[in-house]
Amino acid sequence: MALQNRSSNQYPAEIRGDGLVLRPWDRDLLRQVAGWSERGFPYHAFDMTHLKDPVEAEKMLRRAQERGPHRHFVAVEDETAVGRIAVNLRDEAGLYIWGVHVPEEHGRRGVCRRMVDALVQWLEERFPRGPAFLLSTNAFATHAHRSYRAVGFEISETRWHFDRELSEMLWKVSPAEREPIAEHIRFYRGRWEVRVYIMRRRRGWRAM
Ligand SMILES: CC(C)(COP(=O)(O)OP(=O)(O)OC[C@H]1O[C@@H](n2cnc3c(N)ncnc32)[C@H](O)[C@@H]1OP(=O)(O)O)[C@@H](O)C(=O)NCCC(=O)NCCS
Repeated sequence: MALQNRSSNQYPAEIRGDGLVLRPWDRDLLRQVAGWSERGFPYHAFDMTHLKDPVEAEKMLRRAQERGPHRHFVAVEDETAVGRIAVNLRDEAGLYIWGVHVPEEHGRRGVCRRMVDALVQWLEERFPRGPAFLLSTNAFATHAHRSYRAVGFEISETRWHFDRELSEMLWKVSPAEREPIAEHIRFYRGRWEVRVYIMRRRRGWRAM
């Protein structure tokens, strides 16, 4: 069930969570995100330093502020950007959470767990009759899985997935660099694939 009604077009001023707020992207937050540290392979898709380029920054801001199916937020603690998260309100499979990223300098303090929790609570209130939540995650992203489990997500499916960007990197890196994720990738029919988990969270889930 997709959310098509007009009210889903609104962006909240902010979503309050536990010790953080989720805010729509703005220029100041974007500048902060551009300054986050890089993770590199295999998390290179999350690196944000390209936002130092003014053209890239404008593109990102425009995309993040669009009133289409996606809602993009930056997690903020005391005016400091500490994470980012997005949701597709109209994915056929459900409320699809994606773009979950916390830079190393703000890591290991539960930012991921708290921002996912804040977003799903808000979505449950905002769209009480909406569909359940899901996300897809690379099988090697074990820290992310711990956060997702802590807020009620469980693995419901495992798939082999062709991720163009990751696949291109896998051609370039050495076997030693591939080694840490070796059990989660395969070379199949002439291309690299990565194992992904689909994780779902039922509506109304509460920690025991
Ligand atoms: C995955 C990610 C979002 C986690 O963010 P975070 O705010 O540090 O996560 P949390 O503080 O909620 O920690 C989650 C768990 O991972 C553990 N963890 C996080 N970073 C860790 C590290 N570098 N080393 C060891 N454990 C780590 C935490 O201790 C915690 O485990 P616990 O629940 O047993 O205490 C962040 O590391 C990240 O952005 N990684 C790169 C992009 C990515 O993988 N995104 C998810 C894609 S689906």
